[in-house]
Amino acid sequence: MKNIRTLGLYKLPLHVAIIMDGNGRWAKKKELPRIAGHREGIKRAKEIVEVSREIGIKVITLYTFSYENWQRPQEEIAVLMQLLKNYLEGEWENLVKQDIRLIAIGDLKLLPPDTYEVLQKVIKNTAKCQTMILNLAISYGGRQEIIHAVKVLIENVKQGNIKSDEINEVIFSQYLWTKGLPDPDFIIRTSGEFRLSNFLLWQSAYAEFYITPILWPDFNRFQFIEALKEYQRRERRFGKISEQFREKDRK
Ligand code: IPE
Ligand code: IPE
Ligand code: MG
Repeated sequence: MKNIRTLGLYKLPLHVAIIMDGNGRWAKKKELPRIAGHREGIKRAKEIVEVSREIGIKVITLYTFSYENWQRPQEEIAVLMQLLKNYLEGEWENLVKQDIRLIAIGDLKLLPPDTYEVLQKVIKNTAKCQTMILNLAISYGGRQEIIHAVKVLIENVKQGNIKSDEINEVIFSQYLWTKGLPDPDFIIRTSGEFRLSNFLLWQSAYAEFYITPILWPDFNRFQFIEALKEYQRRERRFGKISEQFREKDRK
């Protein structure tokens, strides 16, 4: 692992989540088809995953395809699914080599069968990797995730496995697709949009946000390190006051 201090880093988020936006606009600016933007975007995803592992981030979630993205033109969806499949096929050995475990959140049943199959294969083949978790949000929507959790929870209450009085934040979290993962500390969105677009609605309650106008295919390791430097300047108070944290530090 790199000595992060040489990069000016001393406090890393445990879990970084990224809304990789702006591929289409990047391509348009260059008078290229949208797919060229998606292709270039995949290169940046690989680069950011690699540097995250190098510096010691433990979990990285990439918003790869939203539930609402199913409403895009069929041709674009087909291309995105093909690119995802190619990425998984081409990358899984490299993930194993880097000791990165791949997992996925979202309504995965909606994926084309061949993409779904490859995804499951990579999940299985990287299951023992421990250095970092790469979590792909695919066919993912925060509202859909919450509704799904509520339905399973109701079923469990009906079966008598849990009493409704016992439900709290910790228990509810275990019914989400992100079960077992820490909440994201830092959410990056590229391409300048100030919105969540249905990403990690429950989990982002106390995340720090970073929005950059840079389009995703231009977001490289240097911009990522800059973003992480901004993160370490933030004071996360979780509803308390500064002095309470300083007191704790003195102990
Ligand atoms: C992000 O880029 C990739 C996906 C949503 C799959 P976009 O395709 O949304 O690019 P813009 O926002 O149109 O520029
Ligand atoms: C969010 O980007 C989804 C992904 C990056 C995968 P969108 O481009 O779909 O978001 P909106 O439509 O601009 O909100
Ligand atoms: Mg977009």
